[in-house]
Amino acid sequence: MNNTPPLNLTCLSMPIKSLFTGFILVVGLGLMMAGAQILFSHGMADGKPGLSIDDIVYSYHGNRTGSTLEAKLHGSMKDMAPNEQKRVLIKWARDGAPQEQWAPTIQPITQQYCVACHSTMPGLADFNKLSEMQRIAEVDTGKALSTLTRLSHIHLFGIAFIFFFVGLIFSLSVGSKPWVKGLIIFIPFAFLIIDIAAWWLTKVSPSFAWFVMIGGIGYSVAAAIMLFTSLYQMWIMPWRGQVSDQNTWFSEE
Ligand code: HEC
Repeated sequence: MNNTPPLNLTCLSMPIKSLFTGFILVVGLGLMMAGAQILFSHGMADGKPGLSIDDIVYSYHGNRTGSTLEAKLHGSMKDMAPNEQKRVLIKWARDGAPQEQWAPTIQPITQQYCVACHSTMPGLADFNKLSEMQRIAEVDTGKALSTLTRLSHIHLFGIAFIFFFVGLIFSLSVGSKPWVKGLIIFIPFAFLIIDIAAWWLTKVSPSFAWFVMIGGIGYSVAAAIMLFTSLYQMWIMPWRGQVSDQNTWFSEE
């Protein structure tokens, strides 16, 4: 059947194995750094450690901690109202300071705790006015379009290159059906597109934040499978005497 010379990870020569291994180690490290970087840069976006959907929403849809109101309530105005009332004000700011909540919930709080100063003291915003409150409750709307464009193209080009080589190495692996292997090789590219598309969609609507999470997890898992399988087949299998004579780059029919 198969009269082509063997070509697979278990029978590669030492130099090409060291090339592949060096690349895999650096890419593995890079993926872990990327994970750490995501935790540090986005993980605290909602004020709590650990990456959550809220972090993604604040990062792409808007950093709702960006309003003056919230900053002051964590800062110099910290002692002006009980925590419960501060939470209500902060949530209102994060929700975009909707007018409907002004009279029933927000105004009573500012009346009780804030306007004694914030309507009498010159130079301070007048908290009897919804428009003044909305101005200081204004929040940023997430990443600027120019930032998104820049990050998108860097990610698409950069990560496509990484997955190209990771997939190329993995294509030499033995033991899985061709369609399974093809799927695992294709998945990172598909999830990469989902991930990047989800950034843009999350910018518009927070409900897409899940796709950012799913996309990121999807291609990390696929990458981990390929990296570990490749290392295992290059080093452990030959060491155990499990050397295959399959030619992984030719169809066998
Ligand atoms: C005892 C008087 C007093 C009370 C009560 C008070 N503030 Fe203030 N507030 C000030 C002063 C003085 C400043 C300016 C100095 C500063 O920024 O810390 C200020 C500044 C602010 C600012 C920044 C305004 C701006 O335009 O930069 C915000 C926001 C704010 N206060 C919110 C509140 C809220 C919300 C409450 C009620 C829970 C409140 N303050 C209660 C005295 C007060």
